[in-house]
Amino acid sequence: MAKSWVNSAERIGADLHLELSGSGGRRAALIDALRAAVRSGRLAPGTRLPPYRSLAADLGVARNTVADAYAELVAEGWLTARQGSGTRVAERARPLRAQPVRHAVKGPVTAPPRARAPRHDLRQGTPDASAFPRAAWLASYRRALQQAPDEVFGPGDPAGRVELREALTEYLARVRGVRTAPDRIVICSGFAHGLRLLFGQGGGGPLRGPLAVESYGLGFHRELLRTAGVRTVPLPVDEHGARVEELTKERAVLLTPAHQFPTGGPLHAERRTAVIDWARAQGGVVLEDDYDGEFRYDRKPVGALQGLDPERVILLGSVSKSLSPALRLGWMVLPERYVEGVLTAKGEREAWASVLDQLSLADLIVSGSYDRHVRRMRQRYRSRRDRLVAALAARAPHIEVTGVAAGLHAVLRLPPGTERSALKAATWQGVALDGLAAFRHPEAETAATADQDGLVVGYATPSEAAFGAALEALCEVLPPDGSAECLPPDERSHSPART
Ligand SMILES: Cc1ncc(COP(=O)(O)O)c(C=O)c1O
Repeated sequence: MAKSWVNSAERIGADLHLELSGSGGRRAALIDALRAAVRSGRLAPGTRLPPYRSLAADLGVARNTVADAYAELVAEGWLTARQGSGTRVAERARPLRAQPVRHAVKGPVTAPPRARAPRHDLRQGTPDASAFPRAAWLASYRRALQQAPDEVFGPGDPAGRVELREALTEYLARVRGVRTAPDRIVICSGFAHGLRLLFGQGGGGPLRGPLAVESYGLGFHRELLRTAGVRTVPLPVDEHGARVEELTKERAVLLTPAHQFPTGGPLHAERRTAVIDWARAQGGVVLEDDYDGEFRYDRKPVGALQGLDPERVILLGSVSKSLSPALRLGWMVLPERYVEGVLTAKGEREAWASVLDQLSLADLIVSGSYDRHVRRMRQRYRSRRDRLVAALAARAPHIEVTGVAAGLHAVLRLPPGTERSALKAATWQGVALDGLAAFRHPEAETAATADQDGLVVGYATPSEAAFGAALEALCEVLPPDGSAECLPPDERSHSPART
């Protein structure tokens, strides 16, 4: 018979549920249950286990049974016991002797171990996590909490807090040239959530596929659309952004006009007007992914496409690049005819974006702290971009760097046929990054993309302290001039000069 136990919070400071089952006796069952909890990660390294007496009482077993089980697991290396700090899950819990694995079903019985963090993380997508403005966020959160009327603590309006929608109306107009009003903004948990609300699972949102998308983009977004039943049709991309003149019968197109993701150019001015003309003529709509519009360096700011025709463009933005993707806070700026449909898709109550976080972001924007943070980060990323460009000019002048006028990543153009070997060399070197091919739409014309070997380098991701070493490691993995492939460091006949 199975016996389960829910630990009360006062005893160990955390709940723990154990199932004692099997016919091998109480001690063996408890050992098995604890091992399984550690192996699955449910009991994290360092977690303090309950004292013998309370665990024994809760499970209805003898105190010695618990003491024996702990002692066995300490001997096996799963637990540690220290005077004064009780029995804890070992920091690197590993059995000292092999455990029999029982296969109830085919395949692995335990979750695969989490991938270890790479030595040098140059994957695009994440801002410098060490630069989150903790003090400013805390100050805004505190003010928001102090000033919030009681109704804030009731169910939230699915449109989002009006304070945030007002702050965004002013901010987006000022910084991105967006023309809107608070009642045209719906708060969501980020770009991905916005896409889900627009297309809904099984057609729940106001839009229907097929959707034209840039032939280079995030596979995750394409997959999200596919699971919502939306067919995506690739639109070729060149150095002027998406070739919008090739739009045909689709009624909606998803673009990254400020900074094509990931190739990096802005949508050419003529194409900006052309796509608006297309939407007007077709009765269609442009979805504008404004994912890093605030981070521009050399060129004149490119305003949001939405400013050209607020009734033909849906702008989607979030704080994922400017603050952190962990906040899950974003916005949709909608033409009037889509507001109701999006709100219906969202449901009766706010179920996604914490109302207190919404109020904190509103305060951060209104107080000027958000602008200050973005400015500071722009300087930091620009300086990293400059260091990247300088290092490549010195160490790998044959490699062209593109897409660097804005954003948080760059594309290093590689000689045709070298992308795979460069990625292999990166793995040897402990550098995590992606090749351009990872972003290509599976149905994209190969003729148009054949010369697109490249590496997408996210220069915002490492902390300030780790950036120099990451750059150094990156230079080591690039193919030497005239080479058709990259060799692992120990097979190179020369050691490149250091800058
Ligand atoms: C192309 C692109 N669009 C949108 C986003 C933002 O996504 P989300 O707001 O869902 O975090 C990202 C990542 O930050 C991105 O790389």
